[in-house]
Amino acid sequence: MSDSTRMVLHAFAALADLGEEIAETSDFEEMVRSALHVVLGAMGIRRGAVAEFDRERGALHFVAARGYDDARALDLSPKSQPTANGNGGHAAQDFARVERELREKLSGVEVVTPLVVRGELVGVILLGGKASGEQFTQEEKELARALGRHVAVGMHNHRLLREVERRAEENRNLYESLKGSYKDTVRAFAAAIDCKDKYTQGHSERVGKYSEIIAREMGWKDDEVEAIAIGGYLHDVGKLVVDRDIINAPYRIDAKQSSELNRHPAAGYEILRPITHPFADIPLMARYHHERPDGRGYPEGLTEEQIPPGARIVSLADSFDAMTTDRPYRRRRTFEEVVADFRRNAGRQFSTNVVLALCRALLKEARGETRPRHMIRMLGKDYVEEQTLPALVQLIADLESGSAATV
Ligand SMILES: [Fe+2]
Repeated sequence: MSDSTRMVLHAFAALADLGEEIAETSDFEEMVRSALHVVLGAMGIRRGAVAEFDRERGALHFVAARGYDDARALDLSPKSQPTANGNGGHAAQDFARVERELREKLSGVEVVTPLVVRGELVGVILLGGKASGEQFTQEEKELARALGRHVAVGMHNHRLLREVERRAEENRNLYESLKGSYKDTVRAFAAAIDCKDKYTQGHSERVGKYSEIIAREMGWKDDEVEAIAIGGYLHDVGKLVVDRDIINAPYRIDAKQSSELNRHPAAGYEILRPITHPFADIPLMARYHHERPDGRGYPEGLTEEQIPPGARIVSLADSFDAMTTDRPYRRRRTFEEVVADFRRNAGRQFSTNVVLALCRALLKEARGETRPRHMIRMLGKDYVEEQTLPALVQLIADLESGSAATV
């Protein structure tokens, strides 16, 4: 076997390894650098480089170079810049221009090999003179071309990958901004609802927050927690169609008025249903937030298992905020009274596991085990008094053991 044959075999074995590398490595530049070094080593060449051709900008970017004074980029002069027209078929023209300029601007360029994929020039390989001073043989030029095909495919794949990543990033940004504007819209809606009801300022916002805290305590996943916060903000959106005087009545309303008011869950559902929400179930949270596990709620009188979990949470958050804020015809309840109410109504008006979650989250905040303390801030820092904590602890224990309902 002649020396040159051995050399070619050795180089092709290295190129075969390289093929795998191109497929596997995420570091494109590292791949090109090692490919270049394999070939320079195999042929005994001192100088060499691989450059990527940027057709749009009329420039060459050196991906890897040895012996060309650390060349990084080369702008092609305007007269030799290719015109951006047509699809394909211009690789030969582009290459002729690039090669001419390279020979003009860089010294010690002996062989220039084009990197072509699907009729497009994607780059070039430059080789300088051999250390021995000999001419390149036909075999060696073949070898450079073989390397060129590998690198060209790698370069092409790398470009495609970059393009895919760029588009994915664009889509992600678009999705985030859509989600952002959806949330802004939801907040604006919530503010509109609360504006209409002058006695319950901030009610929707707080119900959203309480719902979020309860769901998190129950181990819901992040996107489900996000959804329930929105469900909480929007639960009373149906009040937009109820007469303002009924909502703002400064006294307890009569039966006729209350049946008018009771339209709001179904109305809310109708308002929310045609909207495409990023989360499922939001219209159902509005529709069923006045249902009760014992079947005595409205509008449909569903029982525990029939009520969607999100609606059960929003229902408790809603009632909790109603109990803990002043209304025109009554002062808010003391925390002690709220605990007693929970004890009476767990399993009847409210789902027991939802009451449990709220109590646990509140206890953690009251004991200073969590930061920030969202509920304590909404309730006012003196609302949950130290002396009522034992009653809360007892309620949690009774609900856990299932004995609360019989107490
Ligand atoms: Fe409501």
